[in-house]
Amino acid sequence: MARDRDAAVGDLLAAELEAVAPTSVLVLEERTGQVVRALDGSGAAVHTWERFAVGGRAATAWPPEVRVDLVALRMPKARAALVMMVHAAAARLAPKGRLVLAGANDEGARSAGKTLAGVFGSVTKLGSRRHCQLWEARDPLPDIRGDRASWAERVDADGLSWSSWPGLFAHGRLDAGTALLLDVLPTPAAGARVLDFGCGAGVLGIALRARQPAVDYTGIDVDALAVAAARDNLPGTRIVLSDAFLGHGDGGYDLVVSNPPLHTGVARDVRPLADLLAGLPSRLTRDGEAWLVTQRGVDLAAGLGDGFRQVERVRTARGFRVWRAWKPR
Ligand SMILES: C[S@@+](CC[C@H](N)C(=O)[O-])C[C@H]1O[C@@H](n2cnc3c(N)ncnc32)[C@H](O)[C@@H]1O
Repeated sequence: MARDRDAAVGDLLAAELEAVAPTSVLVLEERTGQVVRALDGSGAAVHTWERFAVGGRAATAWPPEVRVDLVALRMPKARAALVMMVHAAAARLAPKGRLVLAGANDEGARSAGKTLAGVFGSVTKLGSRRHCQLWEARDPLPDIRGDRASWAERVDADGLSWSSWPGLFAHGRLDAGTALLLDVLPTPAAGARVLDFGCGAGVLGIALRARQPAVDYTGIDVDALAVAAARDNLPGTRIVLSDAFLGHGDGGYDLVVSNPPLHTGVARDVRPLADLLAGLPSRLTRDGEAWLVTQRGVDLAAGLGDGFRQVERVRTARGFRVWRAWKPR
């Protein structure tokens, strides 16, 4: 489903770029490679940017500093990131340059024109096909915020304080599941090696370090913007860009904590959770423990039972459940 959606959006963007033959292009968050393939042999200078290191592909937190006559933007996975990415795109346009934006209706593409009109003087709908929309925008308005730093927002919640960016998980608040996990999680011993799978902006690490400053924390996340945020929030710790365990094979952890992802963009995606459950036992020491929080309807009993001799439902509250597993098989 997610792949069909990406392919339909990619077709729209690719057809538009083939038709207009730009001389320089920046392709943002394309995912499928269709747009870049459509420009093959066109002679255009093609720059690309991906934020998610899915399957181990290269990803960075922010688009490269280039000036181009066309930016092709795939609607970001998180709707909240759209305004931010439209600003980043506008800042990379040469004078008289234009942005083309495509997305699926169930991603909010029908109302994207309104967002574009807040950033550009001229906005036109170019077409729609297979439940997807294509928009064009020209003439950026003044006060464009094109750099990552200008989008940082300070969050103060539950006695913790961190920087977040639009589109990161639970932007602007502490997630209720993460809060429940923190309510029941024992304080790690000094020097304990802790892995946070899907660390986001690093909130679990910030809380653990507040309780135990000598914790040896590692965070991994597939989202390069989340990784940059966590590095800002947790200086001196190890934060790794990795799709599940693909980019981080280390073991020997005393504790693995996670509020694991269940979605990629708007689509439900249990693959990262399956990778976590499969890889967990071999990442822990013999006495190591895994503490995970999920929505209460997500049953981890079988998945954890495959890899651990002991599995406990620690607490269920506010629609979430904390799971503890130990004695890796
Ligand atoms: C539910 S959020 C939890 C964020 C943070 N730990 C918290 O509690 O606020 C899940 C995180 O997993 C990350 N994620 C999604 N797919 C992933 C994957 N395949 N590998 C690693 N991290 C992933 C997301 O980018 C997101 O930051």
